Amino acid sequence: MKLLVVGSGGREHAIAWKLSQSPRVQKVFVAPGNAGTALELGLENIPITAITELVAFVKQENIALTVVGPEAPLADGIVDTFRAKGLRIFGPTRRAAQLEASKIFAKAFMQRYGIPTAKSANFNQADAAHQYIDQSAVPIVIKADGLAAGKGVIVAQTYEQAHDAVDRMLTDSQLGKAGAQILIEDFLAGEEASFIVMADGQHALPLATSQDHKRLLDNDLGPNTGGMGAYSPALCITPELHARIMREVINPTLLGMAQENEPYTGFLYAGLMISSRGDIKVLEFNCRLGDPETQPIMMRLKTDLLRLIEQALNLSLDKAEIEWDRRTALGVVLAAEGYPESPRKHDKIEGLMEVIKEQAATEDFHVFHAGTALNTEDPSSILTAGGRVLCVAALGENIKLAHQRAYDIAHKIQFSGSQMRHDIGYRAMNRIDPKVDS
Ligand code: AMP
Ligand code: GLY
Repeated sequence: MKLLVVGSGGREHAIAWKLSQSPRVQKVFVAPGNAGTALELGLENIPITAITELVAFVKQENIALTVVGPEAPLADGIVDTFRAKGLRIFGPTRRAAQLEASKIFAKAFMQRYGIPTAKSANFNQADAAHQYIDQSAVPIVIKADGLAAGKGVIVAQTYEQAHDAVDRMLTDSQLGKAGAQILIEDFLAGEEASFIVMADGQHALPLATSQDHKRLLDNDLGPNTGGMGAYSPALCITPELHARIMREVINPTLLGMAQENEPYTGFLYAGLMISSRGDIKVLEFNCRLGDPETQPIMMRLKTDLLRLIEQALNLSLDKAEIEWDRRTALGVVLAAEGYPESPRKHDKIEGLMEVIKEQAATEDFHVFHAGTALNTEDPSSILTAGGRVLCVAALGENIKLAHQRAYDIAHKIQFSGSQMRHDIGYRAMNRIDPKVDS
């Protein structure tokens, strides 16, 4: 059977890699993919992104099933188009993807169904937003309503930063339509965790928990990024919290979407803040898997991913069984110079080919590519081609060993200006050994 994965990041490399391990899969096409998916056995890149062209390709190649990685094609209605043509695809419809694509929609939805989330107010006029901020406490969080490629959320520590964020979005339209409406939200303190499920419209199958590291620098300093590393499982999600998240967040979300005639199908990602008292609040929904969370999650998934997706498409996720590697998986991102503001491209990556050879002989690490491209002048080397370049994911008996293994491999790979955090997993390491210096 032939499959298609839509996207070009580390998440899509990991999804396609996992799907290619299914005994029934002959080939996984990745559209458009990256150098990693070009080199991976069983995967093939196709240089197309437009939905109409993807439809034509799927028909021509007789592709059995399409899986969508990023949010943009989902918000553009790729699932609606494929379904209308009778093609099998796993993801939410355009309207269901509003849970991510409109933060105002998501907030109102959560309020309708009593899903715990921070208090907030919406604005499309700067004056009213400034007034609201003056009457509120700081820190305070300013969020653009629409998709803004990771630039839409400002956690303002001061009134000045908050007013400035409002002006940039509402007065100067720096985020365009995405920032034409904003949401001003109370600041929440606590530990963040990523809780991702597969959904078939009615039932949810939770995937392993994970934790991302959004800030660029060690100790959670520096600007927000798409994510500099992640590990799974997230130790802060105890079995009791897990049950509460299913009961208080995931199940009401699926029930609410079904009641609104928009049953949610696909991966659903709840970004949660867990307070020190154990309160759960939803920071955001994403209508897809997380990046880089997917990379460690796929390292731990033992069940055939194709079978799980088929069960979801057959509305029988309640009967699905999922098995995880008991080890911890940890992924560290290597980012380009200038990331996240203005990443530099076309730097030659040294050491990567040797690491790829080494990975063929072991199952305990894998290098997932994101912003990489084959070097047309020298086929033996790979160039940087985006902000997040690689994610080195490794398994270990515990978080410390997974950390050590991932970093041992990551240190073998070099490119000019490469940026990497050194403390991925520090919260979990502190939890099992409070003496560890973060
Ligand atoms: P989002 O894109 O909504 O996940 O926001 C990006 C990041 O901003 C989150 O991962 C949090 O670290 C932070 N954030 C968002 N909302 C809040 C909030 N209400 N309180 C504190 N931090 C927040
Ligand atoms: N890692 C955060 C995200 O995928 O949105």
